[in-house]
Amino acid sequence: MDTFDAIFTRQSIGDVKPDAVPVDVIEKLLSAAVQAPNHYKVRPWRFVVLTGAARERLGDVVAHSFAEKFPDAPAAALDKERSKPLRAPLLVAVGVDKPSEPKVLEIENICAAAAAVENLLLAAHALGLAAKWRTGEDARNPRVKEFLGFAPEQHVIALVYIGYPAVEAGMVNRPGYEDREFLGFAPEQHVIALVYIGYPIAEAGAVNRPGYEDRTGWVE
Ligand SMILES: Cc1cc2nc3c(=O)[nH]c(=O)nc-3n(C[C@H](O)[C@H](O)[C@H](O)COP(=O)(O)O)c2cc1C
Repeated sequence: MDTFDAIFTRQSIGDVKPDAVPVDVIEKLLSAAVQAPNHYKVRPWRFVVLTGAARERLGDVVAHSFAEKFPDAPAAALDKERSKPLRAPLLVAVGVDKPSEPKVLEIENICAAAAAVENLLLAAHALGLAAKWRTGEDARNPRVKEFLGFAPEQHVIALVYIGYPAVEAGMVNRPGYEDREFLGFAPEQHVIALVYIGYPIAEAGAVNRPGYEDRTGWVE
C-alpha cells in the first residue's frame, strides 16, 4: 500500500475479530512506530503490549477503580468496565517519558509519541489490521498507569486497540485542511512545528534508528 493510500484510507475501526495478532506482526507495528521523528533523539515513547489474560487483569484494575469511585454501581456497570480491554485481542498502551534535561520539552515528547502512534495506526492499516486509538478516563487513571508500569505523572496518550477487522471499512470522508489554514496564533497556543520543506540537494543516507525493544514491555 502506498503512503498516500494508507493515509487516506486509514480509519478508526473498533469492531475486530478475537483472532490473535502474531508476534512478528506486533513487532512490525512497533518498528514502524519508532520511525517517528523525535527532538533531541530522546525516543520518549514507551509501549506496553497487552495480549491474552493481561487484558483481563487490566479489566479487573479498571473495574476495581470504577467500584471505588462509584461504590453503588450495579454489577452490570462493573462488568461493562471489566470487559473494555477485551474489545480487541491486542492493546498497545503508549506512554511518554518526562523530560530529563531542561532543553527537552514535555510537549515535544508528547508530539513525538503521538507521531509514533500515527505510524503504528498506518502500519496496522497497511497490514490489514483494524485499529482504534482510545484514551478516555482509563488512560488518565492512576491505577491503570500503575498496572502498566507508568509513573502517575506520566502521560498515557493512547490505548490502541488492534485486531483483524470484523466489518468492512466504510468510505472515509473527512473535512479538509482549508479552514485550518491561517496566520496568527494566540500567545498561549503551542506552535509544535516549523516544518521546512524543499526538494533535496543531496541523496538521502541510509536510515538506521534504534528499535522499539528497550522502549517496550510485553504483558501476557
Ligand atoms: C488523542 C486521541 C484520543 C482518542 N480517544 C478516543 C477515545 O477515547 N474513544 C474513541 O472512540 N476514539 C478516540 N479517538 C479516535 C477518534 O475518535 C478518531 O480518530 C476520530 O473519530 C476520527 O476518526 P478516524 O480515525 O476514522 O479518522 C482518539 C483519537 C486521538 C487522536
